[in-house]
Amino acid sequence: MIQRLVAGEVPAKHHIKFTDAEGRIRHEEAHTREGFDGPFTLMYHLHEPHRHTEWGVSEYGFAPPVAEGLDTVMPLRRRHFKSFELPRRGGSPLNSRVALQFNKDVVFSSVKPTESDPVYFSNADGDDLYYIHKGSGILRTPLGDLRFGHRDYVCVPRSIKHRFVLDEGVEQDWICFEIRNTIRLPKQWLTHNGQIRMDAPFCHRDFIAPTFTGPNDEGIRTFVVKQQDRFTQFTLAHSPLDVVGWDGSVYPWTFNILKFQARAGLVHLPPDWHGTFAFGGGIICSFVPRMVDFHEQAIPCPYPHEAVHCDEILFYAEGNFISRKGIGSGSISYHPRGVMHGPHPGAYEGSIGHRSTNELAVMMDTFVPLEVCKTAIAVEDNEYHGSWRP
Ligand SMILES: [Fe+2]
Repeated sequence: MIQRLVAGEVPAKHHIKFTDAEGRIRHEEAHTREGFDGPFTLMYHLHEPHRHTEWGVSEYGFAPPVAEGLDTVMPLRRRHFKSFELPRRGGSPLNSRVALQFNKDVVFSSVKPTESDPVYFSNADGDDLYYIHKGSGILRTPLGDLRFGHRDYVCVPRSIKHRFVLDEGVEQDWICFEIRNTIRLPKQWLTHNGQIRMDAPFCHRDFIAPTFTGPNDEGIRTFVVKQQDRFTQFTLAHSPLDVVGWDGSVYPWTFNILKFQARAGLVHLPPDWHGTFAFGGGIICSFVPRMVDFHEQAIPCPYPHEAVHCDEILFYAEGNFISRKGIGSGSISYHPRGVMHGPHPGAYEGSIGHRSTNELAVMMDTFVPLEVCKTAIAVEDNEYHGSWRP
């Protein structure tokens, strides 16, 4: 949903007869969003894309998010979950996703796969945005192969068939935002016709689309769909990769976080300036290594703030985090609305005179409160809230 692309062979108009040199008909698949009112992609298959034989409850999939269920008796507090201590569940990406926090708009998960997906998967519940903290591989789809690696965001739009093919011998450690409505670019970075503004913190060329090479048959016929957290399995009659061409604006893409063109101001800029993706109910921001504020008396550290309307989670990826103590690579802080948050004691004044930061972090603010899953509590740092005491 970044820009309209076309790849391979497509007919002169949509919905018209399209054949090969021998007169065999190509089969159009209309992948449409928001009914028939939103962005769409048309694919042209060698065979009927909707033909299948067996179907039933799937043997593949991951557990739905479950709230801890205890928090009403616990005091409101700032929290820290150590994702690097989460046990490696292993298996394929489709089987190894572990929900940590969620609300009606988004599910935030950890994914630490050890093997490639053996089947094709599509998520009818939302757009999946991964951040590759560690790892690399290929996202294989009917629209082509998309290589991904360290520090990439990988977006798999809702209901796009895919499987992850992991690079051998590479440790994989990802986070995932399952956006249950629609992921988009923040409005402030777009022109009135949807083009990315020249003064936005990224440009169209930063978004990498799949490389299309034509029909492919890996011999895999099992296709798994998640809808309302229920996994259903189909045996397809043909390879879903039998596409000769496609045309549209719905496709997976990658965006490397270091492509984000960070801003610095005379004085500290609020997180909106780091806004990278938006969705109904929240925003995702990228904090990348950058020069910081340049007023001679600027305080580069964030000011203490009341997140009046937002719950905030921050995934600390790499670098030194000047505002926090006891935080490491893979830490997730959760600051719920209602309790002020800000730098650790001493960090605010200690940041004066700093001219750069090498922090690399992904943040999400949500307008609906987040639930915490038991899986996160299992790796909670119970000293975190108390660490603000002088
Ligand atoms: Fe904050």
